Amino acid sequence: MTASLIDGKAFAADLRVQIADHVARLKAEHGITPGLAVVLVGEDPASQVYVRSKGKQTVEAGMNSYEHKLPADTSEADLLAIVNQLNADPAVHGILVQLPLPKHLDEDLVINAIDPAKDVDGFHISNVGLLGTGQKAMVSCTPLGCLMLLRDQLGSLSGKNAVVIGRSNIVGKPMANLLLRDSCTVTIAHSRTQDIEDVVRRADIVVAAVGRPEMVKGDWIKPGAVVIDVGINRIDAPEKGEGKTRLVGDCDFDSCADVAGAITPVPGGVGPMTIACLLANTVTACCRMNGLAEPEGLTA
Ligand code: GUN
Repeated sequence: MTASLIDGKAFAADLRVQIADHVARLKAEHGITPGLAVVLVGEDPASQVYVRSKGKQTVEAGMNSYEHKLPADTSEADLLAIVNQLNADPAVHGILVQLPLPKHLDEDLVINAIDPAKDVDGFHISNVGLLGTGQKAMVSCTPLGCLMLLRDQLGSLSGKNAVVIGRSNIVGKPMANLLLRDSCTVTIAHSRTQDIEDVVRRADIVVAAVGRPEMVKGDWIKPGAVVIDVGINRIDAPEKGEGKTRLVGDCDFDSCADVAGAITPVPGGVGPMTIACLLANTVTACCRMNGLAEPEGLTA
């Protein structure tokens, strides 16, 4: 292995310390406690784990956490009523509706009902538009975390060739916009991209966010490139015993680490950055809402 490991776990822990410091100052100097409301509809086990983690880390940072757990058959009208109630609540500075929602609910409709100023996921059409036009926006947490790791690794990203693999609204598209804003030359590759290996081989920066286990191989990587692996895929691991599984990214770690200059591991790379950035966005939203200076280092 030639690549250095990008330790997202340690970076996220540092970020959480900065966030907690800022929260303590907001309380002491302004009597304000940032509050994050998380809405979970249904009982998807993965979503339940995420929501529990979000609540725990919110409280650990000194903020208020409000959890709304609703049954899977909640009507759209009832869900929208809760979103509106949170929009109007001055103690709530961030609102997150956990996705995916049950099939009978229109995700776009629900997300776009959130007050854009409280949209700490950065999914509201206003925030997407603000980011796309280079204006001050709430930025989606996972791409924001990836950008922080890239800047930490490389300093200026200006002029770098960046390839984002995956075109989702949650990661691929906002990631591409952030890289463009940092003056990268950006290509978005996806399932229909021709000669994807050659496209990736030109990149100084590779962000893989496709959800396909170990798809990106070492011989796709330009020597010295920085590889950010957003994928978290559980695969069978018969070598660990019958019925055992393990987590892998979208990159084949061993072969990529033999060629890259730096790479994020899975787990322990991008994953921990997402919730840390959610907390950071909540503090940022709280400061903006109260006309206070935004904390440095917590926004893109
Ligand atoms: N489900 C998986 N990732 C996310 C995320 O970042 N935000 C929300 N709201 N739901 C998710």
